[in-house]
Amino acid sequence: MTKPTILVTRRLPVAVEQRLQQDYTAWLNPSDQPYSSAELIAKSQGADALLISLTDRLTADLIQQLPTSVKAIATFSVGYDHIDLAAAHQRQLAVIYTPGVLTEATADATLLLLLGAARRASEGEQLLRSGNWQGIRPTELLGTEVHGKRLGIYGMGRIGQAVAQRARGFMMEIHYHNRHRLPPEREQGAVFHEQVEDLLRVSDFLSLHCPSTPETEGFLNASRIALLPDRAIVINAARGTLIVEDDLIAALRSGKIAAVGLDVYQNEPHVNPALRSLPNTFLLPHLGSATVETRTAMGMLLIDNLNALFAGKQPLNLVKIG
Ligand code: GLV
Repeated sequence: MTKPTILVTRRLPVAVEQRLQQDYTAWLNPSDQPYSSAELIAKSQGADALLISLTDRLTADLIQQLPTSVKAIATFSVGYDHIDLAAAHQRQLAVIYTPGVLTEATADATLLLLLGAARRASEGEQLLRSGNWQGIRPTELLGTEVHGKRLGIYGMGRIGQAVAQRARGFMMEIHYHNRHRLPPEREQGAVFHEQVEDLLRVSDFLSLHCPSTPETEGFLNASRIALLPDRAIVINAARGTLIVEDDLIAALRSGKIAAVGLDVYQNEPHVNPALRSLPNTFLLPHLGSATVETRTAMGMLLIDNLNALFAGKQPLNLVKIG
């Protein structure tokens, strides 16, 4: 039997590429340069599935131009806001994603952002690297304590819950808003706020963990920022589109928000120059799931799902559409 053909748009961890080459005719991208829409359409000719990443924007227009040979889109991500699901549904394409395997790494990265923002890690690192550090001073770069503070989690899914678990270890008090209240064994004492406004009012720290959808896009805007306690700290390892960055920047300048820890941006890979130049921003380049273990597990999960699909079985990690 001939092996199905997979077009892989970016470099993947070595073990993943090796397995792809074993199980499939894999068209890899050794240069790792992102494909333009036109290139993606051209390179898809004859492929049975596409293994894409977050830098590929699969708009309705692009999906409509994919060759009929393509039966599935596997995305190397847990988020799928870069794929027009209605168009995929119309074309009867299976959409496969990577839930579960990146929860722990993303929760770890969220705590890194939280602590980095609270303890002014970026300013400290820059001072040290500049060669101007004069030695410890009692009043140098004083940050904010996290223990005993309230952490507001917006979106209490797998990652939100894993963040809560870690933050409890830092003696934080957990509050959350979610579409549905969690059962007590998963809530673990966290305080549920049915109204998001009530969550915002108590959030000394606010961490966003919901997907980007038309409903959540622009969630954190000036009027919601105004509800936060003065000198709150905001963390975002979910999607940049959840925050109106101009409003966030104004609040960072006024001091309403003391600091921010960001892994994601409104217009990736372009980062607003104000965010880059303000001292009270702790910034990472979308590294949430970036560990060898997790990125390998993500690739293996996609291959398991593609194997099931091409064996005529139902893949476990299909995005539910339609
Ligand atoms: C990362 O942002 C992902 O969606 O996996």
